[in-house]
Amino acid sequence: MKATCKMPNAESITPDAANNARFCLGTVKLGVPNYGFSSPSSAQPLPPATFLAQVEELGIHRLDSSPRYGNSEQILGAYLKQRPTEQPALWISSKIDQLTPNNKQTPAQMLASVQQSLQRLHRQQLDLCYLHQNELAIISDPAVHAGIALLKEQRLIDKIGVSLYSHEECHYAIACGLYDVIQIPISIFDLGFYNRFVLPNGAGTIRFAARSLLLQGILANRQEITTRIRQGEEILAYLRQMDHLAEQWQMGTTEMAVRFAFSLSAVDHLLIGTLSLANLRAILQWIRHPLSTEQIATISHFAAQAKIWSNPRNW
Ligand SMILES: NC(=O)c1ccc[n+]([C@@H]2O[C@H](COP(=O)([O-])OP(=O)(O)OC[C@H]3O[C@@H](n4cnc5c(N)ncnc54)[C@H](OP(=O)(O)O)[C@@H]3O)[C@@H](O)[C@H]2O)c1
Repeated sequence: MKATCKMPNAESITPDAANNARFCLGTVKLGVPNYGFSSPSSAQPLPPATFLAQVEELGIHRLDSSPRYGNSEQILGAYLKQRPTEQPALWISSKIDQLTPNNKQTPAQMLASVQQSLQRLHRQQLDLCYLHQNELAIISDPAVHAGIALLKEQRLIDKIGVSLYSHEECHYAIACGLYDVIQIPISIFDLGFYNRFVLPNGAGTIRFAARSLLLQGILANRQEITTRIRQGEEILAYLRQMDHLAEQWQMGTTEMAVRFAFSLSAVDHLLIGTLSLANLRAILQWIRHPLSTEQIATISHFAAQAKIWSNPRNW
């Protein structure tokens, strides 16, 4: 397929606030700084409270955390506690982990887990609570479903979500009708979930969240790809194809990856992790300019093909 050089026109630029509202800051690196492939811009991160205050000033109000992300919840909680109460509330998602299938204690464990998260975050309710386990044995477990009902009944969570890795899991999560939000990989590397599930269900009540837009940062930090990832050579070959497209369109490859995912309007919100304000500012600039229909179609052609390495669990 031939790529065309076309920059977005003025009409296709959406208002900043609407785009910022779709951006969710992933906070895994607040608690686990060596997660993924960092860029040089985060070599000397700001103190977390300073960083989070600046994030808010940039118009970001969604933050994603988890008890699995080191002390990310505590760091967010410390920030939220000292934050002026008159400011509009931030939207926070966190997760429940370490459940076992067919366990009568599951609802009580889920309750305890969320109560602990809320205590750490200094919050009364999670806007979104994900199950941090994607296995069918967990997401289809009647005891887990009972736990979700309990959490909603007690108003400890507003929405329930699942973060998935396979099409089979995604098919179940949609069909069961229990989950409000489904988080899946959607990127220049992987459009399989988007084509199969988001497009046909886009207008329904289920909301889809995109993760792994930058595949843990491998676009901007390539030095260690071959030493840290088994399929490193294959990835580098794909990245060269993406570099070629980005170059034709006179943008960087990271910019292209971010703009591509944010151009997919059926996606409710999109998670990107960063500890760098410079990177965050760049992202917020990029997402003001959706890609053209032709650019989206060209990238989609590459991204639609299944790749074993687009799931970091296979690295
Ligand atoms: N199962 C789950 O629920 C699950 C799984 C994975 C991730 N997540 C969530 O999704 C979030 C994102 O994780 P991910 O794995 O999807 O990673 P990602 O967002 O694809 O990539 C993050 C990496 O990209 C780098 N980066 C960000 N912006 C950049 C820019 N403008 N230029 C260059 N590099 C940039 C960051 O480094 P710098 O800090 O240097 O910018 C970081 O190391 C996590 O924080 C977490 O909240 C959830």
